Amino acid sequence: MEILAVSAELFPLVKTGGLADVAASLPKALMAFNIRVRTLVPGYPEVLDALADRTVVRSYDDLFGAAATLLSGTACGLELLVLDAPDFFARRGNPYMDQECRNYDDNWKRFAAFSRVACDIALGAVVHWKPDIVHAHDWHSALSLVYLKYSNAAHVPRVMTIHNLAFQGQFPARHFAELSLPEEAFSVDCLEYYGDLGYLKAGLMTAHLITVVSPTYAREIMSPAGGMGLEGVLNARHDDVVGIVNGIDMDVWDPSRDPYLDHCYSFATFQYRAQNRAKLLKSFGLPFTRRPVFASVNRLTWQKGMDILADVVDEIARRGGLLIVHGQGDAVIEDQFRDAARRYPQHIGVKIGYEERVAHLLHGGADAMLVPSRFEPCGLTQLYALRYGCVPIVSRTGGLSETVIDANDAALHARAATGIQFTPIDSDGLRQALRRAFALFRNHRAFDQLRRQAMKADCSWQRSAQQYAELYDRLLRHQPARTT
Ligand code: ADP
Ligand code: GLC
Repeated sequence: MEILAVSAELFPLVKTGGLADVAASLPKALMAFNIRVRTLVPGYPEVLDALADRTVVRSYDDLFGAAATLLSGTACGLELLVLDAPDFFARRGNPYMDQECRNYDDNWKRFAAFSRVACDIALGAVVHWKPDIVHAHDWHSALSLVYLKYSNAAHVPRVMTIHNLAFQGQFPARHFAELSLPEEAFSVDCLEYYGDLGYLKAGLMTAHLITVVSPTYAREIMSPAGGMGLEGVLNARHDDVVGIVNGIDMDVWDPSRDPYLDHCYSFATFQYRAQNRAKLLKSFGLPFTRRPVFASVNRLTWQKGMDILADVVDEIARRGGLLIVHGQGDAVIEDQFRDAARRYPQHIGVKIGYEERVAHLLHGGADAMLVPSRFEPCGLTQLYALRYGCVPIVSRTGGLSETVIDANDAALHARAATGIQFTPIDSDGLRQALRRAFALFRNHRAFDQLRRQAMKADCSWQRSAQQYAELYDRLLRHQPARTT
């Protein structure tokens, strides 16, 4: 089976979050099911630099006013189709925003062009290759499903995956005229969203199947509280919405051969981990301690509840614990953590930024990983933490609630617990979770049992890739009638 995946991000080349990780790891997992994925990505400089064995598939003189070339090639073990359109994508850094963190004015056009090309691929742009299914990820590629619906490839099954409903791709209606879509596409059944254009909404309306990155988030977004204005659309498509929890790349995140760790370890050699811990503290200028070392690797945003974490630093310091935060995002939250590090230089370490290396060091050295998200479609950080025996402490929402088993008495007794969950998702809830963590940490045997159980959790793609494979199969069996 041949799949065209369409994604604006791809680890390790272009990444702002988990979308990149999933776009890179799911295709590898699907190979085991005899499914070949080719992924269309924008030709950012980092992607073009890495592209090997490149051939020109098609040249465009005027793709939304720009010259462009569709290339095919390989990078990072993946088969890629790359849209080299310098006017749109020759911009280093964040794929969506300029250096002042403002969305690019032409995002509507950049990702419409990208999506248009996905449709061209389904129509046969690549010699001797046509996808059986087109699978779009998030709003950036959602229009590809709309272009497909109104093309001669309308019979090709269309899958839309929601990674995060908070990002919907809404643009002024005046751009509709430039999208080269039939008038009827600007309707409430497709692109029109309260008088504007809704790219993700249009993808949801035109997909044959919608997947969501965890079953719990799939339920949450059906309600007004979680639906972010799209709950009506999602309820209307209720029977076509499927939740599939993300897996992780077990090669990239493997403590037994992690190139970023000085001391690799496994379940059997867990004792080596202590040396990473000591080194981690030293590198952040923090004193050695027998008290718990908490970490957080995250976007510093409201969604991630990082302001809630900033509120409880006093509690961590007062109890003698340590906290190391690595992330970037809202300037106010960044300042809160900088300030916390100044107030508690013996307890709080902060590195503002985004570095894969630091993320690995924290997972491989800290005792516990704090993930206090207000909402979390799936979350990958807690999965990496599980694999690294870094006990995840998570809010009870979305994918966090189904990937971490709370260390309540029954679960501890049954040796099933893998972390700590908390509600309500506010500073009192997190403080209470921290109290539980300190208490557990004092009981060395119990904590050791917990982190070992965490390491045993299955975070691989195996089960979830199989679910995608089954969905694809189902779609092909019920393929819509060919219109040409
Ligand atoms: P989201 O996609 O909402 O940000 P996920 O948990 O799904 O949340 O994925 C976040 C990804 O980004 C993980 O791979 C995580 O390790 C990575 N990440 C987040 N913040 C940083 C950071 N400051 N430095 C390096 N990696 C980070
Ligand atoms: C989004 C979500 C996150 C999820 C990731 C990958 O960025 O916020 O929860 O893990 O996509 O699906």
